[in-house]
Amino acid sequence: MFKTRLTEMLGIPHPIMMGGMQWLSTAEFVAAAANAGVMAFLTAETFLTADEFREEIRKTRRLTDKPFGVNISMLPELGRGERSLGFAKVAAEERVTAAETAGNDPAFLVPVLKDGGIKIFHKVPTLRFAKKAVASGVDGIIIVGFECGGHPGMDDVPLSIMLPRAVDELSVPIIAAGGIADARGFAAALCYGASGVLIGTRFVATSESTMHETMKRRYLEVTERDTTLIMRTLNNPMRCMKNRATGQALEMEARGAGLLELLTIVGGKIGREMYAKGDPEGVPIACGLAASLIHEIKPIAAVVNEIISGAHAILSRIRTLEVA
Ligand SMILES: Cc1cc2nc3c(=O)[nH]c(=O)nc-3n(C[C@H](O)[C@H](O)[C@H](O)COP(=O)(O)O)c2cc1C
Repeated sequence: MFKTRLTEMLGIPHPIMMGGMQWLSTAEFVAAAANAGVMAFLTAETFLTADEFREEIRKTRRLTDKPFGVNISMLPELGRGERSLGFAKVAAEERVTAAETAGNDPAFLVPVLKDGGIKIFHKVPTLRFAKKAVASGVDGIIIVGFECGGHPGMDDVPLSIMLPRAVDELSVPIIAAGGIADARGFAAALCYGASGVLIGTRFVATSESTMHETMKRRYLEVTERDTTLIMRTLNNPMRCMKNRATGQALEMEARGAGLLELLTIVGGKIGREMYAKGDPEGVPIACGLAASLIHEIKPIAAVVNEIISGAHAILSRIRTLEVA
């Protein structure tokens, strides 16, 4: 067992979080991760209304007695302040354990979430945003490197630099994210001074992941050369596996398309449809470089146990200087 500030703060056995993933992080997936000892986040943006979100929180509670959290992703292009606030109020009323905020300044959500006794972890790609969030009262920072699935920010800095920078500059617990798929990444993050890790891509390729099997199997084929960044022209790049939809999005961007046109490819409606249908070409699918390290779909508990026992083995080898 690894005891860190994160395990103490949240009452979880392992310093591992599963990042919120739109369309996927529903009650079944989040409860399965919670039961494996991971802090997982129900993604509010998957739900059309705050009431549907409340129902999903209650459903998760019926599936697990372990702590879990919510992800509130603010989409900067759409200016969804009121919507995020509504989700935060529900999370506070339902008294979930933790919140992962992302995408925009969380200051307006902090008092609401704190009223519900929720520990807030803000996810950012840069120190500038991290410092601002800490000043507004968040409890921890999830620092994402350029390798990550989803939104790596505009600065293109890998986790090997962002993580020690964040550890040096901030006093709150730092959670490392981006490119972590196994015991080596986990152990390295702890060596850099992280209090825990947050993983997305590796957990998509698990037995309990709610992603359609056809899409899920694609993660096993992705190498380190098979992801791409779309939406950089909107100042909000997203790392996805290369497919027909990312090709179309990049063509649109090359000829100067704006948000409205891009939404025909990346918008919520098409995302919901294609994820339900399991079309691996019809929509951009967020995917980190860590996919190149995944070779098998297995249960979440098996992934977690391999990370924890593998990290013990690595660290004891290093302690005795028996290294490769
Ligand atoms: C399929 C998928 C969907 C994601 N959706 C969201 C989301 O809705 N909100 C969010 O904050 N992050 C989202 N992310 C990012 C993850 O929460 C996490 O930050 C990221 O996956 C960590 O990097 P890794 O993929 O290298 O592990 C998504 C990632 C993936 C792979």
